Amino acid sequence: MSDTAANDHAEPSLAEAMALAMRRLAKSVCIVTTRHEGQRIAMAATAIDSLSFDPPSLLVCINKTASIFPAFDAKSDFNINILGQSQQHLANRCNGPIKGEARFGEGAWIDDEVPWLSDAQAVVMCRHDGEFHYGTHGVFIGRVLDIRLHGEVDPLIYADGLYGTTVLRRPQ
Ligand SMILES: Cc1cc2nc3c(=O)[nH]c(=O)nc-3n(C[C@H](O)[C@H](O)[C@H](O)COP(=O)(O)O)c2cc1C
Repeated sequence: MSDTAANDHAEPSLAEAMALAMRRLAKSVCIVTTRHEGQRIAMAATAIDSLSFDPPSLLVCINKTASIFPAFDAKSDFNINILGQSQQHLANRCNGPIKGEARFGEGAWIDDEVPWLSDAQAVVMCRHDGEFHYGTHGVFIGRVLDIRLHGEVDPLIYADGLYGTTVLRRPQ
């Protein structure tokens, strides 16, 4: 790694340097939800992006150690709940010591076959439409089935291990 190394003492490994670089890639925070063997499952996630608008599709990267992974591996339908600024507490609940059904203990969740958050900025409802595995993660393609929008554009941002907000400007 060159230029602004993490410290002056030891050169970070390539993986460590990549982690430092990725901390600078701000992402919008989501909660991925699904249902597997009757159980609702939720996980905070940022490794999500649009794939194509024809057909409407996105991809999501899931660590193989995550409790939601078996549901994705079983090709379950899933929802991407895109959080607003006021919903950081829901992201915290879906990442860490609170597990399983208890992750739904807070928030305006609609208990459909695949749960969704009624006041999320947007909910993208998906059918599993492909996957491949790479290193520690599975990469899953979601074919978009339906969309829910709520309120104004107001994303909860995650960068450098911190939550924040955006100031939006028109392109000049
Ligand atoms: C802001 C944020 C974004 C995350 N994004 C992802 C992600 O895209 N993919 C992933 O596999 N884990 C991601 N994680 C980690 C999972 O949310 C966390 O490890 C989760 O608790 C999975 O473990 P568990 O469900 O088995 O407890 C993220 C965590 C945070 C706080």
